[in-house]
Amino acid sequence: MFTRILAPIDGSAPAGRAIQVACDLAGRYGASLTFLHVVADPGSLSIPPQLEAYARIEHVRASEHEIIEEAARGLLASAEAEAMRKGVKAATLLEFGDPASIISDHVRKDGVDLLVMGRRGLGRVGGLLLGSVSSKVTQLADCTCVTVK
Ligand SMILES: Nc1ncnc2c1ncn2[C@@H]1O[C@H](COP(=O)(O)OP(=O)(O)OP(=O)(O)O)[C@@H](O)[C@H]1O
Ligand SMILES: [Mg+2]
Repeated sequence: MFTRILAPIDGSAPAGRAIQVACDLAGRYGASLTFLHVVADPGSLSIPPQLEAYARIEHVRASEHEIIEEAARGLLASAEAEAMRKGVKAATLLEFGDPASIISDHVRKDGVDLLVMGRRGLGRVGGLLLGSVSSKVTQLADCTCVTVK
C-alpha cells in the first residue's frame, strides 16, 4: 500500500508521536522511512531549547549556524536511533529554507506516498487544530498525509 514514507520532524511532542506512528507503519508495510528536518532560516531556531543549550555547551566557539546545524543533526540522529530500536532502518535529511515548500518538494521528487507529521509543532499559539506547516503541507503535498495528535 505504502512504499516511501517521509516524516518531517521539528523536535515537538506531536512530531515525537509522529515518529512512533511512522516507524510502526514503515515496519508494517515494509516501506522506506526518511526523517526530514528543515531549518527555517539562519536567524530562527526551529529546534527544542534543550538541544540548543546542549549544542552551546558542547561547541562554545561555534557560530550560530553551526550550533543550529549540529542541534538539527542531533534531532535527526535521535529519530534514526528510535527507529533502529523498533527494528526499522531510517534515512535522515537536513534542509534549509521554507519548511512547507521543502517538504512538499521532497514528496514530489522522491516519490513519497505517505507523509506522517505532527498536527502541531513547536509553535506557541494555542487553540489551533493544525500548525502552519502541517496545514500548508497537507494542501500542497500530492500524497496521503497523516497528521498525528
Ligand atoms: N522545520 C520543520 N522541519 C520539519 N518538519 C516540521 C518543521 N516544522 C514543523 N514540522 C512538522 O509539522 C508538524 C506541525 O508543525 P507546525 O509548525 O505546522 O505547527 P506549530 O509549530 O504548532 O505552528 P506554527 O509553526 O504555525 O506556529 C510538526 O509536528 C512536524 O511534524
Ligand atoms: Mg512550527
